[in-house]
Amino acid sequence: MKINFEQKIKSHAGILLVPVFEEYGKKLPSAFPISAADFFQVRFKNKEFKATFGETIATYQFDKNLPEKLVLIGLGKKDKFLARHARRLGGKVGRHIKCLKPKALTVAFVPELEKFTEEFVEGLLMSLYTFDTFKKKKEKPYQLETIYLVGQNQKSVRIQAQKAQTVIDGINYVRDLVNLPSNLVDAEYLAAEARKIARENKYKLTIFDKKKLTKMGWGGLLAVNQGHHKEPRAIILEYNGALSKKEKPIVLVGKGILFDTGGYNLKPTGSIETMHQDMAGSAVVLGLFSILKKLNIRRNVVAVIAAAENMISSRAYKPSDIIKTLSGLTVEVTNTDAEGRIVLADAITYGKKFKPQALITIATLTGAVAIALGNRYAGLIGNDSGLRSTLAGSGREVDDLGWPLPLHSDFKKKMESEIADIRNTDIGTSRYAGSSKGAAFLAKFVGKEKWCHIDIGGTAYTDDPKEYETKGATAHGLRMLLRYLEK
Ligand code: BES
Ligand code: ZN
Ligand code: ZN
Repeated sequence: MKINFEQKIKSHAGILLVPVFEEYGKKLPSAFPISAADFFQVRFKNKEFKATFGETIATYQFDKNLPEKLVLIGLGKKDKFLARHARRLGGKVGRHIKCLKPKALTVAFVPELEKFTEEFVEGLLMSLYTFDTFKKKKEKPYQLETIYLVGQNQKSVRIQAQKAQTVIDGINYVRDLVNLPSNLVDAEYLAAEARKIARENKYKLTIFDKKKLTKMGWGGLLAVNQGHHKEPRAIILEYNGALSKKEKPIVLVGKGILFDTGGYNLKPTGSIETMHQDMAGSAVVLGLFSILKKLNIRRNVVAVIAAAENMISSRAYKPSDIIKTLSGLTVEVTNTDAEGRIVLADAITYGKKFKPQALITIATLTGAVAIALGNRYAGLIGNDSGLRSTLAGSGREVDDLGWPLPLHSDFKKKMESEIADIRNTDIGTSRYAGSSKGAAFLAKFVGKEKWCHIDIGGTAYTDDPKEYETKGATAHGLRMLLRYLEK
């Protein structure tokens, strides 16, 4: 699919989309396409079309100089229209496109909308995502061939649309990686992806295989993976984008559980089916690295990914096991389904070697976060309120939301073990504040580093997509982190 930029509406196949604010009912802006003016004014007068947000009305045009079909879409009131509305509007348009299947789409930007080109294009492209490579095709699948963006400030529209396309490349990369099942995506697959990204962007790459992990003492990652015949991997990528090489990096730690059966604390039917999503944290980190350089992000960033399977077999780890982590701290395994925190413990310990200015963990860590915050907000938990609110603010700006959850010392107490340095789950009041207690476990390994954890357990994968999302993987966290790194 191509995006072209034009100053005037031309006669392309397909649809001409004209977004209109409610205020245009009183007075049309000078840049409003003449061809749509009569249609709009008559329908508005008749109250057939009120230009409320997302409302549409369509007609055919018989002018050979214009696209065949004209669609007006309402933007609501000017002062209510924000960046996030532009993204959702793009999503709504995308959903219409998927039904109407035009060859091309021409969008007539009015000046007030031009400044939201990036968000609009992001929403539009995001909603057009499909994951159907495994379906036998009866016919050639539909694809929108060209988008023509018609605007006054060509340069700004072009720059914004190109940025959006790069971000979408990152987002769709994450969605594919998360949607692909674990019989196809194993730890070595993630490592191979990291190799590809490192080669393309000239990042430094380190991969530890089982032998090296054993030698180094990644006891947490190894214990969780024990039940699978395949090897785990630790994957480290380093990007130096800061003006000074010496600037301390931001370390991003991603959970990469390729499939979470729950282990001997087996997940029941209804909970287990989508557990190939349990590597979404690591997919977001890889997705970010796939676009950091292209976007010329002026930061030093390190990725640490812990990739493992959580399975049942005669070799698998069990409740009551005591394991020694890379940090030297021992963990009493009280529940094999709280495996993410165990692999993250080692990845955090390794990440600390880079002396980060900020350490951020991103993981489908708990189901409890969905109980607390539903499927729109990720949980933000950490030891630094500044970092936490910066991340929340970044998320708000790009409609990739996060909301703070507490890290009280009582929660840390609940993770104390009588026989080891820490236990991986609370027993007794185990269902209370599950996300905070998961983070309390991580906090023990983080120590004094400035840290925030992003729990995407409720948002990485969806059955209830927003306008610009599709069912399945969402790439939640990518835009939040990208905006944070841009600051
Ligand atoms: N991967 C799951 C969390 C999860 C659940 C992510 C649903 C996405 C959707 C995690 O490893 C897990 O099983 N956590 C347990 C922790 C419990 C045993 C303390 C949970 O949340 O139930
Ligand atoms: Zn689990
Ligand atoms: Zn898990």
